[in-house]
Amino acid sequence: MNIDKFLLQNGDSRDLIKTIPSGSVDLILTDPPYNLGNYSTGNIELKWRKNINNDLAEWDTVAFQPKEWVSEFKRILKPTGNIFAFTSYNLIGKWHEAFDPEFDTFQFMVWHKTNPTPKIFKAGFLNSCELIICCWNKGHTWNFLSQKEMHNFIESPICMGAERLKEPNHPAQKPVKVLKKIIEIASNPNQVVFDPFMGVGSTGVAALQMNRKFIGFELEKTYFEAAKKRIENAILQVSLFA
Ligand SMILES: C[S@@+](CC[C@H](N)C(=O)[O-])C[C@H]1O[C@@H](n2cnc3c(N)ncnc32)[C@H](O)[C@@H]1O
Repeated sequence: MNIDKFLLQNGDSRDLIKTIPSGSVDLILTDPPYNLGNYSTGNIELKWRKNINNDLAEWDTVAFQPKEWVSEFKRILKPTGNIFAFTSYNLIGKWHEAFDPEFDTFQFMVWHKTNPTPKIFKAGFLNSCELIICCWNKGHTWNFLSQKEMHNFIESPICMGAERLKEPNHPAQKPVKVLKKIIEIASNPNQVVFDPFMGVGSTGVAALQMNRKFIGFELEKTYFEAAKKRIENAILQVSLFA
């Protein structure tokens, strides 16, 4: 597959992934649906502040099954490749069941969000952590930073301010800072990063800013167009400051 800098496609990854040649991807870094819709407390109307709406989006209600992705992920990944996927407590067991038997190593990281949605009624914990599963085989690309930087824990606020897209607003937009740290550890410059669930393209922006190539797929047209615009802007910025 000859990619100059990036390849973006609007469509269903279940079909599009079949067009990726075997052994051609260095890092699968992705953020598939969490299926948290069933646990949502919906829209909570509050008089003294903005409403809190825990509903994610329509796409999150479609059941995501890690076992349906393991063979295609394995097929397209280079022997030196790595897989990192954001997920939630309700799916981590399914990821482990499907991916652990197929790779030498299965680990997880925790992203601690320093500014999670408050628990207005103080019932239970704030949802301040997200999980990231990671797996690889022996001989994988691995840029070990210092011992301190290699805890399986990363701390960062959720996307805010200028980074957060207003139109369209994507409820699961990930911070570029978190994605860049993973890309730095798990791939090298000019290698190919792939995100089959790219949303508004945060993985693509991070990959291009780190001088990697990027393949991204997204089902929803509005998110896809926003991702394309962001990724084209990222390329422009990278070449301006090169
Ligand atoms: C958790 S979001 C990803 C957000 C992304 N990390 C970002 O920062 O914008 C998951 C995305 O997967 C997309 N999606 C769900 N099923 C898909 C499929 N079968 N093929 C391609 N995209 C899909 C959804 O539309 C949604 O935008």
